Amino acid sequence: MTHSIYAYYVSTVLFADNTKRVHVLQHHSDLLLYGMGRSAAVFKMKYENRVIKIFYPQYNQITEEEKQNYEKLNGSTYYPAIYEAGINYLVMDFMEGKTFFECLAEGIPLKPYHIKHVDNGLQYARSVGLNPSDIHLHNLILTNNDNVRIIDVARFSQEKACTQWDDLKRAYRQYYQRPFFPKKVPKWVMHTITKLYRLYKYIPQKRKRSKC
Ligand SMILES: Nc1ncnc2c1ncn2[C@@H]1O[C@H](COP(=O)(O)OP(=O)(O)O)[C@@H](O)[C@H]1O
Ligand SMILES: [Mg+2]
Repeated sequence: MTHSIYAYYVSTVLFADNTKRVHVLQHHSDLLLYGMGRSAAVFKMKYENRVIKIFYPQYNQITEEEKQNYEKLNGSTYYPAIYEAGINYLVMDFMEGKTFFECLAEGIPLKPYHIKHVDNGLQYARSVGLNPSDIHLHNLILTNNDNVRIIDVARFSQEKACTQWDDLKRAYRQYYQRPFFPKKVPKWVMHTITKLYRLYKYIPQKRKRSKC
C-alpha cells in the first residue's frame, strides 16, 4: 500500500472534537489553516497551489459524495479540480481570492456579472445531472483575477430543491444594488441575517418551503 505525501499531511492533523465547536489542535508546519466550515477544515499547502479539505471525524462519510460531485464538475473552470481523495480528505486546486462573505465584510463590490458567473457555474452543474444546493456566501469565491469559483459541492447530489441561491439573488437585486445600501456589511450583521434566515426556513409553515 502506498502512502502519498497528502495522506501523511492529513495524519498530522488533530481535531478537538469534545467541544461544540471543532478546533484544530495541531498540524504539520507545511500546512496553513486556511478556512473552517461546518463539516471540514481546509489547509493550504505551503509549497503547492492546492488545498487539503479534511472532514471532521463525524463528517467522514461526506468525503466520497463530495469527491464524486467534484469529479462530475471536472470539465468546468468554475470548480476546483480534485487530485486525490482519502477516506476523510480531498486534495484540490487552491482558489485564491475572497469568499463573497469576505467581499461584503470588506466592501469589495460584487457586480452583476459576478452573479451571472455563479448562475453559469450552477447551470453547468445541472447539465451534468447535479442539483446545486447549499449555495451561500462562504461557498462562492471571487478570485484575485476577478473570476468566480464555486466550492463545497457535497450537497449537489441531494434531491430536494434548495432556494438559497435564488433568495440571495433576490436580496442582491432588492437591497444590495440600491444606491443607499452600504456595500460594506459588518460580519455580525451577516451572521444575524443568516441565523434569522435559517430560523425562517425551519419554522413549520402551512406553505411547504424547501430546506437545504
Ligand atoms: N479550493 C479552495 N480554495 C480556497 N479556499 C477554499 C477552498 N475550499 C475551501 N476553501 C475555504 O475553506 C472554507 C471551508 O471550506 P468548505 O469546503 O466550504 O467546508 P464545509 O464543507 O465545512 O463548509 C471555505 O469557506 C473557504 O473559505
Ligand atoms: Mg462551506
